[in-house]
Amino acid sequence: MERLDKFLCGGGVGTRSQVKLLLKAGRVTVDGTVVRDGGLKVDAGQQICLDGVRLGGKRQVVVLLNKPAGYVTATEDLREPTVMELLPAQYRHLELRPVGRLDKQTEGLLLLTNDGALLHRLISPRSEVPKRYYAQHEGSAQAEDIVAFAAGLILGDGTVCLPAQLEPLGPGESLITIREGKYHQVRRMMAARGMPVHYLERRQEGNLCLGSLPRGQVRELTQEELQELLL
Ligand code: URA
Repeated sequence: MERLDKFLCGGGVGTRSQVKLLLKAGRVTVDGTVVRDGGLKVDAGQQICLDGVRLGGKRQVVVLLNKPAGYVTATEDLREPTVMELLPAQYRHLELRPVGRLDKQTEGLLLLTNDGALLHRLISPRSEVPKRYYAQHEGSAQAEDIVAFAAGLILGDGTVCLPAQLEPLGPGESLITIREGKYHQVRRMMAARGMPVHYLERRQEGNLCLGSLPRGQVRELTQEELQELLL
């Protein structure tokens, strides 16, 4: 059982204040009776309608966030601001979860979803979705670094990395593509080759790009992007 107003927000009907107005206007019925009290306890088995159209459970959504530095990838944290705080009001009650994680100081593309099946598929080590990062770092990548990345690095603590791609862009700048998501992976891989990273941004995940989405903003995936992601 949950409150009717929460059920409506979670179903993507609108923000809390929009839902309040809809209820006040008598546009919501529960089992055929107009209900104006958002505090009424309901469950998904009941027939809950807006303007006569039955509502299901929570709308399944995948959003792409351009994460700024300074936010931790977590649903809650006692000390640090979380990426959830960047979500606009209409997404707050959809119980979105981050897909994988970016470090607090890493910027760029982060997906969030309430589609449990998709979440598991994307974070499963077997999915091997390529993720491309832009890094500013000490030193300059050399041919032997490219070869070492392609062969699969072994980090100082014995962690074995899958083959990865290193593309030098110029002195102290590279693109790195990995197909897994171990703890601090890109930073540790670059440090292992004597190129500690100062700045890191994820630019691409599978077919998805940051594009012109401003830092700190979110957008929902298009149907086309969703279909490609699910392939
Ligand atoms: N690799 C890192 O080191 N940090 C990230 O946030 C993502 C990949």
